[in-house]
Amino acid sequence: MNTSAKTLSHDTIRAVQWQGDHLRLLDQRLLPRKEHWFDCRDYLQVTQAIKDLAVRGAPAIGIAAAWGVVLAAQQGQSLDAALATLRAARPTAVNLMWALDRMKAVIATGADAGRLEREAQAIQDEDLAANRHMGELGAALIAPNSGVLTHCNTGSLATAGYGTALGVIRAGVANGHIEQVYAGETRPWQQGARLTMWELVRDGIPAKLIADSAASHLMRSGAVQWVIVGADRIAANGDTANKIGTYQLAIAARHHGVKFMVVAPSSTVDMATVSGDDIEIELRDPTELLGLGGQRTVVEGADAWNPVFDVTPASLIDAIVTERGVIERPNTMAMLAMFGR
Ligand code: MRU
Repeated sequence: MNTSAKTLSHDTIRAVQWQGDHLRLLDQRLLPRKEHWFDCRDYLQVTQAIKDLAVRGAPAIGIAAAWGVVLAAQQGQSLDAALATLRAARPTAVNLMWALDRMKAVIATGADAGRLEREAQAIQDEDLAANRHMGELGAALIAPNSGVLTHCNTGSLATAGYGTALGVIRAGVANGHIEQVYAGETRPWQQGARLTMWELVRDGIPAKLIADSAASHLMRSGAVQWVIVGADRIAANGDTANKIGTYQLAIAARHHGVKFMVVAPSSTVDMATVSGDDIEIELRDPTELLGLGGQRTVVEGADAWNPVFDVTPASLIDAIVTERGVIERPNTMAMLAMFGR
C-alpha cells in the first residue's frame, strides 16, 4: 500500500454534516462521554453553536459559518445580518472571517441559495483535501520512530476531516515516522484530554495523555523530537495564534532542542495582519477556569483570567506546513513569497 492509501484508512469522523436544509453537528461539549448529534435550523443556531464551542477548531467554525449563510439564503433572511452575526461569534480564528468573505464575494455576484450551497460545499471539500496533503508534507519532515507532542484538538473534529496537526500525526503513524504520540490535556476546556485522545484511541494510534504542566519534563526526557500544533491565525510575519499554552510549549521546545511545527491550511493565513501583536485574543468566561466538567472546584468569590489563545513568535517555529508547501524558519519574506499580499 502506498502512503496515500494508508493515511486514508485512519479517518472516519465527520463532525459537520450538511443535510440539505439544516446543519448536523457532533456536540463537542459532551465528548467523549456522549456522542450526541444536534441540528442547527437557522444561522442564529449556528452562531450559538460556534460561541458555545459545540463546534470548534478554526477550519470547522469557518465551514459551519458558511453553512449558516446558506441557511439564511434558503430562508430569505438578510444576508448582511447573517454575515455580521456569524462573523462576531469568535474573534481569533481567521478561518471564520475567511469563509464568510468567500461567501460574501459569491453573494455579491447575485447568486441564489443553490450557488451558495455549492460554495459552502467547496469550502468543506477543499479543507479535507488540504489536510490530506499537509499530512504527507508534514510527516515527511519527521525522522522514523519519532515521538511527538501535540496540543489542543486539531483533528477531524476541528476540520472538515483528517485534521491539520493531527493529520500530520495520522500520516506520520501510517508511514512509520511517528512511534509515540503525547497529547497535552489543554486546560481549561480539555480539548486534548476529551477530544484528541478520543480521536487517537478510535484510530488505534499509540498515545499518552499528559498534564499540560508535564510538557517540559517530557521534552527533557528525550521522548519527543517534534511538537506539532495547529493554528487559529498566522500573521504576515509567521507569528502564530493557537490554543493557550502553545507559546510555552514553543519556548520549552527551543530550550530542549525539540523541533516545533505549525500545521494549518492557507485559510488560516492572514497577510493583512502584520504581526502577532495585532491578533485579537479571545477572552472567555472566567467560570470555565473555576471548575471541571461543570463542577465548581475553586472557592466561591475567586476570580480568574481566561485568555483562550496565545501567540507564538515566528522565531520559535521551525516549520509552517500549509497545503501550498512548507516554510522552514518562517519570516515576512518567506510568507510573502508563498502567500502574496
Ligand atoms: O477554542 P478552540 O477549541 O476552537 O481552539 C482550537 C485550536 O486552538 C486549534 O489548535 C486550532 O483551531 C487549529 S484546529 C485545526
